[in-house]
Amino acid sequence: MEFLTLNNGLKCPAIGIGTFMLTPAEAENSVREALKMGYSLVDTANAYVNERACGRGIKASGLPRESIFLSTKLWPSEYENPNALAETLERLGTDYVDLLYIHQPAGNWLEGYRQLEKAYKEGKTKAIGISNFEGKYIEELERQWEIAPQFIQAEAHPYFTQTELRRTLDKYGIKLMSWYPLGHGDKNLLKEAVFAELGSKYGKTPAQIILRWHTQMGFAVIPGSRNVEHIKDNLNILDFTLSDDEMALIAKLDKGVRYYHRTEDQLVQFAAWKPDYEK
Ligand SMILES: NC(=O)c1ccc[n+]([C@@H]2O[C@H](COP(=O)([O-])OP(=O)(O)OC[C@H]3O[C@@H](n4cnc5c(N)ncnc54)[C@H](OP(=O)(O)O)[C@@H]3O)[C@@H](O)[C@H]2O)c1
Repeated sequence: MEFLTLNNGLKCPAIGIGTFMLTPAEAENSVREALKMGYSLVDTANAYVNERACGRGIKASGLPRESIFLSTKLWPSEYENPNALAETLERLGTDYVDLLYIHQPAGNWLEGYRQLEKAYKEGKTKAIGISNFEGKYIEELERQWEIAPQFIQAEAHPYFTQTELRRTLDKYGIKLMSWYPLGHGDKNLLKEAVFAELGSKYGKTPAQIILRWHTQMGFAVIPGSRNVEHIKDNLNILDFTLSDDEMALIAKLDKGVRYYHRTEDQLVQFAAWKPDYEK
């Protein structure tokens, strides 16, 4: 495994399993199988309503808790709940997480960030992060954080490489964990000719070439999958290196176009929505 060294010295595996839109049964299965085959990073969130299932998958893997890097996210309607982290840990079946994000710059997100800082100081999380903070939100947070985050989770893939955001991240040594790394199932990205060409050169699938590109960009990558063969392939990307010329060819695909466009109205809705947690 390759690791990213965070701005607090902690090491985070470069490849993990994502669980967005996985049902509890799917998440439990994907997490257990991923951990058994050598993954050590698991990404979930309050909003995915599968934290209990991820916890079951971790237990069923038989791996000791300390060998796993567990990442989750507080949802905006939890930012003012003083028990949000305790309830999250109870669902996950653990007494600490390795990385705790606030999921969206919605509602009282500064209070949410204060919860992260408190959890960090108390040792209940080893790293903190912000998710979907860009533009004015990251500028405002920058003025108010006591502890700079270690990670940002944001949409990133060869069509949208977050050039502007990365300038801010570089200032503080904040690492990017890319979501929608494979385009969230969009076949156009996977079908780009350059990935087929490089795939045949290295004996890899287009998805593996894209994921290797992420790790060589310095991103942590957490592809989501319900398919054990895909999960296996997604880990098997560290035995080759794309050359600088090949990275430059992939860079030409950057159109500055994202798949997901969030509106200010959605942020208001996010703050009002309460996840219907698994019992
Ligand atoms: N912070 C946020 O707001 C946010 C937002 C979105 C996502 N995320 C996180 O980022 C993770 C990744 O994003 P995502 O899951 O939405 O999108 P993604 O990883 O870009 O794409 C997932 C899709 O790709 C397919 N896939 C996975 N591996 C493949 C392979 N080797 N070959 C071909 N297809 C493959 C999956 O299908 P199969 O199931 O058939 O493999 C699934 O349809 C999430 O799971 C979540 O943990 C965070």
